[in-house]
Amino acid sequence: MRLDNYTALITGGASGIGEATVRLFAERGAQVIIADLDEARGKALETELAGKAEFYKVDVSSAAEVEAMFAMVGQKYGVLDVLYNNAAYSLSKTLWDTTEEDWDKVMRVNLKGYFLCAKYALPLLKKSSHGAIVCTGSELGVVGCVESLAYNSSKGGIIQFAKSLALELAPFGIRVNVVCPAGTETPAFVKDMSRSGNYEGEVKRLVASYPLRRLGQPIDIARAVAFLASEEASFITGTHLMVDGGYTAQ
Ligand SMILES: NC(=O)c1ccc[n+]([C@@H]2O[C@H](COP(=O)([O-])OP(=O)(O)OC[C@H]3O[C@@H](n4cnc5c(N)ncnc54)[C@H](O)[C@@H]3O)[C@@H](O)[C@H]2O)c1
Repeated sequence: MRLDNYTALITGGASGIGEATVRLFAERGAQVIIADLDEARGKALETELAGKAEFYKVDVSSAAEVEAMFAMVGQKYGVLDVLYNNAAYSLSKTLWDTTEEDWDKVMRVNLKGYFLCAKYALPLLKKSSHGAIVCTGSELGVVGCVESLAYNSSKGGIIQFAKSLALELAPFGIRVNVVCPAGTETPAFVKDMSRSGNYEGEVKRLVASYPLRRLGQPIDIARAVAFLASEEASFITGTHLMVDGGYTAQ
């Protein structure tokens, strides 16, 4: 499944799932914009991919920054074929421990960031003959778990965001879908699972709950994103694809 002549913007593209997707898209022929806060990692990836990707520093929760980013994309590329909304802020706290600031930050990055990118990308997506938006949700947007109230609420919201947006954008031929990973070995995952001081034990417990008995790897998610972004998924919109080793099938 080639992505030749595609222009794709990937938020959170400097690390983890976003980084794997940047690499896969570039390998399959796309021109990629790595949109991320992390300048060091983003620039290093840009250098490594030599001309196939460019880094743009952005906070996706800032309307002014997102608007300026898509103005740059418009000037330089004139069109956008794929927006991959992926950057997120992960927080593991109970209701009692979650502050108002915590709640607002999670919603600002995870939901408002997706909204802002979709809004300012829209004029450029409309210029594509096969525009697509893919969003990263989570298995925790579908099932609950303790100590993750704000994050899980934001991830559930992303599924509804995508369904409603899919209906709104269908008349323009723009498809909107979600990939929902379960535990995937990324820097954010390792940090989160190391909080107890027993990373190996936490991973073992998690893997035992996955029917396929392994963690996800960033490339597993990237392949699903590439499929949903491509013409091979041209009749798929408004859906969420679980990439979770069977966790939510139980
Ligand atoms: N890793 C998992 O187990 C897992 C499971 C389910 C869902 N997810 C989702 O996958 C996505 C990627 O997660 P990951 O594990 O690869 O994380 P990660 O921390 O490795 O990468 C996230 C990237 O997003 C960037 N970012 C964060 N806030 C930003 C902002 N405001 N503006 C621009 N960039 C910002 C970070 O700098 C980082 O480069 C997230 O949406 C996450 O919720 C991850």
